[in-house]
Amino acid sequence: MNHNLPAAPMTFVLFGASGDLSRRLIVPALYNLFLEGGLPHQFQLLAVTHGDVGRETVIAQFHQAIADYSRGGAADETPWQSFVELLHTINLNLRQQDAYRNLAGRLRELTADETRELIFYMATPPLLFAEIAQGLGDAGLADDHEHVRIVVEKPLGHDLDSFLEINQALQRNFKENQIFRIDHFLGKETVQNILAMRFANAIFEPVWSRRYIDHVAITVAETLGVEHRAGYYEQAGALRDMVQNHLLQLLCLVAMEPPVSYDAADIRNKKMDVMHAIRPITADQVYQTAVRGQYDCGWLSGNAVAAYRGEPGVNSRSNTETYAALKLHVDNWRWQDVPFYLRTGKRMAAQVSEISIRFRDVPHRAFPAAAGLNAQPVRLVMQIQPEQGIVLKFMAKEPGPTLRLRPVNMHFNYGEAFDMAIPDAYETLLRDVMWGDATLFMRADQVEAAWRLLMPVIEVWSDNPAAGFPNYLAGTWGPEAAEALIARDGRSWLIPTLGTPPPCPI
Ligand code: BG6
Repeated sequence: MNHNLPAAPMTFVLFGASGDLSRRLIVPALYNLFLEGGLPHQFQLLAVTHGDVGRETVIAQFHQAIADYSRGGAADETPWQSFVELLHTINLNLRQQDAYRNLAGRLRELTADETRELIFYMATPPLLFAEIAQGLGDAGLADDHEHVRIVVEKPLGHDLDSFLEINQALQRNFKENQIFRIDHFLGKETVQNILAMRFANAIFEPVWSRRYIDHVAITVAETLGVEHRAGYYEQAGALRDMVQNHLLQLLCLVAMEPPVSYDAADIRNKKMDVMHAIRPITADQVYQTAVRGQYDCGWLSGNAVAAYRGEPGVNSRSNTETYAALKLHVDNWRWQDVPFYLRTGKRMAAQVSEISIRFRDVPHRAFPAAAGLNAQPVRLVMQIQPEQGIVLKFMAKEPGPTLRLRPVNMHFNYGEAFDMAIPDAYETLLRDVMWGDATLFMRADQVEAAWRLLMPVIEVWSDNPAAGFPNYLAGTWGPEAAEALIARDGRSWLIPTLGTPPPCPI
């Protein structure tokens, strides 16, 4: 993945150019790539809009989007004007057949029939994925398997069947090597660093197994609530929104075998082996294996926040989970009997994503009991965000005449170690799409396996509305049942539950 050279001339077709995803993530990422010289020399951005949105409006929207969301802040006038020169627009109703003929015509005009790399980026509601893929195929726009790519974003479907439907439409019209399925977590530097840490250093591999590891806990906690996304989130919930993709991807990176090379096929095969090895969850085990939660009102950073059911656009009796925790097993030689605990939630006590590897306890405590009152087994914590680094937590002797042991931290901090700007996940992923490098993208079989794994949970939860929702206060670490899920095994989540939260303010 050494992407220093500019790719070939390229036209990047952005469907849903006026939408939220484009404005928040894609346009700022494209602009930053442009500023860093990361776009091909002859690059065109064709923004596909609908309704009456014209070029001037798109320019104004993109300008604002960069000011609001780019890591570099508002665009400076000179580079902005050069960027605008790359921008073209077309207004299409994507539900009409002639839209794709019109698009083909516009592309012919823009590219003057020369061979160019063509990227179709679907920043549209997933409902349109299958239809757009078919429309592009019917218009002959997918035929050049070498130069045409299509990019889709999670959520890829709502369940296994809808995923298969989208996937079939994609695969009917595009070859697998043309399809790039984004899980933006894979573009995060700290997520990529999991493999670097594991496979570029010989010391971890020998202890990376059931022999030394007691359990793995993966936490992706957000302080944000549902915000303005109720329309989507009400249908999704935490399991579909986060576990089906981001958390399972993290699990695969922690659990996979060493690849032969850092090549898309090798890496994705190894990840797929992990998916194969995850013990299926049967319907009758759902309540022992999975916990769901929904946030009540509460306090965050001293501010009162509303309950999920009181958020704009949310049904006042919603059964949607804003928190999910799972206990999984990876049934293979390396991981037999090592549980993987996964949890994610909105409106939690802190914004923190991390993977905690807890090693086994020492086989024999040689120190006097009083010395080791605080003794804890070693933990390795891979911090994904907002802290970015690796922490090794181990026991040390407290200075002084009395023999007393205390846990201490050895810290690697990304920002301190590398004095350079950390690219946004979308910048990395867009660059890889332009280069046709699929290493950091989800392959169809892996997405399918993730849906298959979770379908029993999805079905049991949907057939049996939660009796106790809301069941955790905003600003806490989630429902008690999630503590019980891990406590039943004599373990606990790494991040301590905060003190008793203040009573519900609203
Ligand atoms: C998205 C989810 O995929 O990931 C959101 O749809 C979530 O609900 C987001 O907030 C978290 O991503 P990040 O990069 O902000 O941690």
